Amino acid sequence: MPALLNADDYRLRARRILPRGLFEYIDRGTEDEKALLRQRASLDAITLTPSVLTGHRERSLATRILDQHQAAPLVVAPTALAGIVSHDGETKLARAASRVGIPFCVSTQSVTTIETIRKGAPDARLWFQLYVWHDRTLTDALLDRVAAAGCDCLVLTADTAVAPNREYNRRNGFSVPYQPSLRSAVDGILHPRWLLGVLARTWMRDGVPTYGHYPDAYRSSVTRLAMADAVRLDGSIDWNDVARLRERWTGRLLVKGILSVEDARKAAAIGADGIVVSSHGGRNLDCLPSPADCLPAIAKACAGQIAVLADSGVRRGTDVLKYLALGAGAVQVGRLPLWGLATGGEAGAEAILRLLLQEMDTAMGLLGVREPRELEGRAAPPAASHR
Ligand code: FNR
Repeated sequence: MPALLNADDYRLRARRILPRGLFEYIDRGTEDEKALLRQRASLDAITLTPSVLTGHRERSLATRILDQHQAAPLVVAPTALAGIVSHDGETKLARAASRVGIPFCVSTQSVTTIETIRKGAPDARLWFQLYVWHDRTLTDALLDRVAAAGCDCLVLTADTAVAPNREYNRRNGFSVPYQPSLRSAVDGILHPRWLLGVLARTWMRDGVPTYGHYPDAYRSSVTRLAMADAVRLDGSIDWNDVARLRERWTGRLLVKGILSVEDARKAAAIGADGIVVSSHGGRNLDCLPSPADCLPAIAKACAGQIAVLADSGVRRGTDVLKYLALGAGAVQVGRLPLWGLATGGEAGAEAILRLLLQEMDTAMGLLGVREPRELEGRAAPPAASHR
C-alpha cells in the first residue's frame, strides 16, 4: 500500500473505504460548490513572507486558546456523524486530539453521546457545538448534560438557520437516520470493511445509526415523526437568544459562522468569549465569501477583546499558518481528522493530526518563525505576492 504522505492521500484512501453516500456527505459542499472552491482559492493565493538567516534553532507550536495552554493552535472541529465513519468515531477523535494536546469539539449531531465520549476519553479537552432545537426544554436539558460531562467551551453554530441544499446527498441516497434501501445496500456491500466494521457494529449495539443526542423516540420510524419537530433546528434564534445562553452557560462561549465585522462586534458586545470565522467548510450557503478574505478585518476589529478562531478549507500545515498570519488565534480542522478516522480509526486520526503539525513545524522553520505569534503580518494577499 502506498504511504500516506499528505491529507489528500488520506482522502483518496477514505474514498475507497467509505460508501459513496457517506464519502460525499463529508467531502462535498453545497449546490454548485462555489464556496468550497472559493475558500481553497483564497488560501492558495496567499503567500507567507519568510525571514532568512534568523539563527533560530528551536521552534514551538505551543499556544494558549481561551486562556488554556495547548500543544498547538489547532482544534478538531465539530463534525456530525463521525460515529458512522468509524465505530465510536467521536470517542476516537477525542482521544486522538487529546494525545496531540488539542481540544475536540463534539457536535450536537454526533452519533456517540457526550457521556460515552467522556467515559472513553476522560482526559480529553472537550468542547461542545450547539444547534438550538425547536424544543427549548430539550435544548436546555442537553446543555445540562454537556456541563455535567465537563465541556469547558460551548460553540454556538450561528450559520445554519435552515438545512442547506446538498443535492448530491439526495442523488446518492445518503440519509440519517440510516435507512436501508437498494442503493444504500449496494453501496454498503461494495464497501465491506465499512459495512462490517462500522455499520453492523453500531447497529447491533445502539440500534439504527442516528444522532446520539436526539431523544430515543427518534430512532424508531413509528415515533420519529412526532419527535422530528422537537429537534428541528430553530431558525428563529437571534442575538437575544445568544444573550440568554450567555447568562445560562457559565463556561466559555464561542459563536461559530461569523463572516462580518458587524456580527463579530455583536458577539463581543453580548459577552461571547470568541468567534469562529467560518463558511462551514463550504457546506451551507454557496455564495458565502471565503473566511480567509474576511478574517483580517474581523481580527483587527476584535483585537484584544475576544478570541478569533477560523476554519474552512485547511488541507496543509501552511493553510493553518496562513489563517494564523491573517489574525486567527487558532484554527479548526473538520474533514482532515475524518479522513484519518476513515482510514485508520483512532490511530489514523492521530496520524493525520500529527502530519499536519509536522507540516506546520517545517513551514515555520522555513519561514524563520519560532512560535505562532511571530506569523503576524507575514501573509501577503495575491496582488502583493511575488510571482
Ligand atoms: C461539519 N461542520 C459542522 N459544523 C457544525 O457547527 N456542526 C456540525 O454538526 C457540523 N457537521 C459537519 C459534518 C461534516 C462531515 C463536515 C465536513 C463539517 C463544519 C465544521 O465544523 C467546520 O466548520 C468545517 O468542516 C471546516 O472546514 P474543513 O476543515 O472541513 O475544510
